[in-house]
Amino acid sequence: MKIIRSHAELLVYRASLPATSTVGFVPTMGGLHAGHTSLLTLSRRDNDISLASIFVNPAQFAPGEDFASYPRTEDADLSLCASHGADAVYLPRAEDVYPAGYETYVEAGCGGAARNARSEGASRPTFFRGVATVVLKLAVAARPHRLYVGQKDAQQCAVVRAVVRDVGLPLEVVVGETVREGDGLAMSTRNQYLTGAERSVAGGVWAALREGTAVWAKGERDAESVRGVVREKLADMRGKDANVEVLYVSLCDRESMREVEGTVEGGGKCVVCVAVMVGKARLIDNVVLE
Ligand code: PAJ
Repeated sequence: MKIIRSHAELLVYRASLPATSTVGFVPTMGGLHAGHTSLLTLSRRDNDISLASIFVNPAQFAPGEDFASYPRTEDADLSLCASHGADAVYLPRAEDVYPAGYETYVEAGCGGAARNARSEGASRPTFFRGVATVVLKLAVAARPHRLYVGQKDAQQCAVVRAVVRDVGLPLEVVVGETVREGDGLAMSTRNQYLTGAERSVAGGVWAALREGTAVWAKGERDAESVRGVVREKLADMRGKDANVEVLYVSLCDRESMREVEGTVEGGGKCVVCVAVMVGKARLIDNVVLE
């Protein structure tokens, strides 16, 4: 497995690949777990060459967020990449991605996501811009045929699709299913921040989303009622020795991320997204209404 540490080296590596090889690309921030490796497995399955990146992207963290303390576990990450069939891993330094004088940022269209008051865009104002900027920059250098992202970050999927579509990048965005722990908690690098007591209530996030899909399956079609059921169930997580704060419960269009008011459409068009602070961990999760 080749380890690449600079933008220039990545360009040379990419140019060295045969023109007939298909390339899959899995961008990550490291702290790898089974959610990430599921994307590596998809990439390995679908492409001749599988490339991952590990970069804790400063542009997507707001002041006061966990940029400095974000888990950095390079050796373990590289072993996981190797054992999941990566041919190369790109680990740029910050100055390779954002050299001195860097001032080009992508305002991810995806107007619904950026404007939706119940979204990552609202509670983390520079998040979408940081993600859109780094994904575009990495994809331009890696020139993949397929780019892999996880459904766990539903709004990020919409942002990445919007960038690829609007800029006209010649690649396919492939969305991998959310990988969960036994109690349903979506795997996340940030789960490491949970104390034992917090971890024992964290499965409540998925339980609340399941409750939302249960009322939906029984025929509830009013968006606010579905949101209400999820909010109520999330409230059950409080008071069990854990500091829980519900940041938002959104029911929105899966592509535009616009909040749905009134009747909810089925057929996988809509998604319920939640963000919950449990102690120091900001947990996000979602479920698509099929
Ligand atoms: P990171 O949180 O490291 O996630 C990298 C990729 O793994 C993302 O596409 C994310 O959706 C996916 N992923 C994370 N947990 C998952 C799970 N439990 N199941 C399935 N997929 C999962 O997301 C980022 O990094 C960054 O924002 C990035 C896209 C790399 C840009 O900096």
